[in-house]
Amino acid sequence: MSPMDAAPRPAPPRINPLQRIWLRELGMERLWLRTPPAVPVAKAGSVASGATPGQTPAAASPGGPSTAPHSPIVAPTPVEARLDAPTAAPVADAAPVAAPAVARTAPAEPASGRASAIPASILNRTGPPPRPAPKVEVQEEAPPPIPVAEAVKDANLEQLAAQVVACAACGLCKGRRHAVVGQGAQPTRWLVVGEAPGEQEDRQGQPFVGRSGQLLDAMLAAVGMSRERDVFITNVIKCRPPGNRNPKPEEIAACSPYLMRQIALLKPERILVLGRFAAQTLLGTDATIGNLRGRVHHLKTDEGVQIPVIVSYHPAYLLRSPSEKARAWQDLKLAAREL
Ligand code: URA
Repeated sequence: MSPMDAAPRPAPPRINPLQRIWLRELGMERLWLRTPPAVPVAKAGSVASGATPGQTPAAASPGGPSTAPHSPIVAPTPVEARLDAPTAAPVADAAPVAAPAVARTAPAEPASGRASAIPASILNRTGPPPRPAPKVEVQEEAPPPIPVAEAVKDANLEQLAAQVVACAACGLCKGRRHAVVGQGAQPTRWLVVGEAPGEQEDRQGQPFVGRSGQLLDAMLAAVGMSRERDVFITNVIKCRPPGNRNPKPEEIAACSPYLMRQIALLKPERILVLGRFAAQTLLGTDATIGNLRGRVHHLKTDEGVQIPVIVSYHPAYLLRSPSEKARAWQDLKLAAREL
């Protein structure tokens, strides 16, 4: 009998592609069908990957074997495609903040409907945890600094000292060890005004504590005055200029409101101004020391009080030019005179 005469084989039962895969996994596909699978393996694999271990294809396919459509493989719906494709994770990734709602809220075993073809393992796939919302640094703008003159307007001496210590009105604050507010007697008979702290003053936070200070104390003692009892000592500039360079006009402008407030609060009987910078700042002139010394000037305060001002050489200058001490002595006697 030729093969042509042989009784026709019964047609293999119709199964859907998922059932075929399941049979293949059980090693029964050939026995069952005796025909090669009609679906490309790769395609089928992509669907099989949707079934969780222990989940039968029937469970993955809601209709079950008997109701399965005959067509090879149902093209994934857009949702399935998105979830099954290798790019599925990036889809979750791309979600700006939280995972998409469908993945988070889908029931594990959908009861019916088209979407029920999506295995629960896929529906519940949430991908990597949602990225935290990027921190947007909101840069709070610092309030504009209050001009020194405005800040000191109502300050008492204690508040003024705190303001000087915290001052950043010019670049000198960057290099200072200490701001030097001033030191001396209150009530104040004489206010002595120098130029700016030197190295020792910057270290110790007190005015005129170096060699110039020793000479100043000796000069004051010569007219019966002391910083402990009668004299308050300060400077136009409260922070040391680097390398003891001359103060810049903008530094003088930034700092002089502190001095003016000190004068208003201390109400000295007179002011002894030492050196060109202090004299020019206080008297608002660019005249030289030679022109300014030897006579009494007056400083009118905001309250309208006239304070006598005597100009003399800076002690540092006197240390370099001892022959000028005689003139400085004249200046001291002028200051000590009943004016
Ligand atoms: N020179 C100044 O003008 N002031 C000081 O405090 C020290 C040195």
